[in-house]
Amino acid sequence: MQENNYQNLKIQRKTKQSESNKSVAKVYLITTEKQIEKFSLKSVLMEKLKLAVKEKSSTIIPLFGNQQHFLMLLGIVADEEGYRNAGALLYQTLAKEKVNIADLKGLKTLDDAQRFAFLEGMLLASYQFDQHKKQENKHLVNILISETAIAEDRLQELISLAAVTAFAKTLVNQPLNQLNAVEFGEVIAEAGKKYGFKTEILHKKQIEALKMGGLLAVNKGSLTPPTFNILIYKPKNAVNTNPLVLVGKGVMYDTGGYSLKTGGSMTGMKCDMGGGAAVLGTIAAIAANKLPYHVVGLIPATDNKISADALVVDDIITMMDGTTVEVQNTDAEGRLILADALVYAKKYNPELVIDLATLTGASAAITGPYGIAMAGNTQQQMDELKEAGENTYERLMQLPFWKEFENLIKSDIADLKNIGGAVGGASTAGKFLEHFTDYDWIHLDIAGAAFIKEAKGYKQIGATAVGVRLLYNFIQKRCQIKD
Ligand code: BES
Ligand code: ZN
Ligand code: ZN
Repeated sequence: MQENNYQNLKIQRKTKQSESNKSVAKVYLITTEKQIEKFSLKSVLMEKLKLAVKEKSSTIIPLFGNQQHFLMLLGIVADEEGYRNAGALLYQTLAKEKVNIADLKGLKTLDDAQRFAFLEGMLLASYQFDQHKKQENKHLVNILISETAIAEDRLQELISLAAVTAFAKTLVNQPLNQLNAVEFGEVIAEAGKKYGFKTEILHKKQIEALKMGGLLAVNKGSLTPPTFNILIYKPKNAVNTNPLVLVGKGVMYDTGGYSLKTGGSMTGMKCDMGGGAAVLGTIAAIAANKLPYHVVGLIPATDNKISADALVVDDIITMMDGTTVEVQNTDAEGRLILADALVYAKKYNPELVIDLATLTGASAAITGPYGIAMAGNTQQQMDELKEAGENTYERLMQLPFWKEFENLIKSDIADLKNIGGAVGGASTAGKFLEHFTDYDWIHLDIAGAAFIKEAKGYKQIGATAVGVRLLYNFIQKRCQIKD
């Protein structure tokens, strides 16, 4: 897979030369009605701005009748998501007007968090998955900001976070014929070298030796062997003693297997490794920014396909820890491969394990594209994660996780069955995973938010890389608490 981050925006510091360069567009950011008076505007434009002030909405107007100069009113009250979307609006306007270089003035009137969010929104909005299209209409927008607008380390953090987010989106957007489980392993190993973390890519023989019965069962229908990908970021100055382990579902494509997805529900199932991509993106981001936190990533990867020898309904398989599972639906494959990864996680004696998975349609039906469903056994850490969710707008809602759901996945002839039944599909999937944990653990079902059908604000159609900004923020806060 070709390496390209698909970001069409560059943020640079301005120089004396750019200040006097006539071909540099100017963008004036204003936040109050008073500032409007400083610009001599036609009355229609003035009215437009005043209306936007009243409605607290953001708007952009051209200045001096010149398409290259813009006045942008930021009409958002104390909401970082509003600033992200305003950043997106500015990027989209500049791209549409084919502006090459724009000098951004007035950033300093925003507070730190607002400024960060605004620039973040611009960067995130500039992503485009266009590798497989003719490259004739590529347009790059360069944004110039002043030396004092934002501290250099914060700016570099923002740029690298947006770049790994774009990287994760691209991995999810690539279809199976561009990225299979073996190739995903190669991408992970390369990323380790680039960003500075260790990787170990286990292949089929090693997976067999480990008796990962879930991963091997799902892989039975595929010509491409599975991989089990281990990512280790262990900085010398880590503030935690036992690692945080992140587990990501890496189903490269989910046809459903013999419980075949029908009626169009297979479309988009290249997103089923979105959890794995988010784990890779998070570890790349913390390594790039050298956060002092010991984190391990585990990504079981395979596609879920059909062949003469594929897993069938009614099969009984044995997982890595000896648990037997009666397969009642081959489309509930994610929990089978994750179970082995959760068992494998025990060897790290983790302080906490978080799994991310596009696990159930039932979860997507609850959250829609707007958030993530969560369950787990450690309320305090779930609350911490919820806060990170609010900070990044990758919001979490907690699933009911009553013990009754456990009874729904008991099998008459094996230890567990892999589906619950008509009720609580997201909760029973979580309960299935819980069986394989003996440590503090949080489960995130990202089926609704990982891959979306409509572009909105800074989000494009397709992959969102949900989880990357969430977990980065969560880990960053934990570095500060333990400092
Ligand atoms: N990968 C799907 C879940 C999914 C649905 C992801 C929609 C993204 C968007 C998962 O493997 C699956 O097929 N789950 C089944 C479980 C069922 C058979 C218990 C589902 O949700 O229908
Ligand atoms: Zn499935
Ligand atoms: Zn799946």
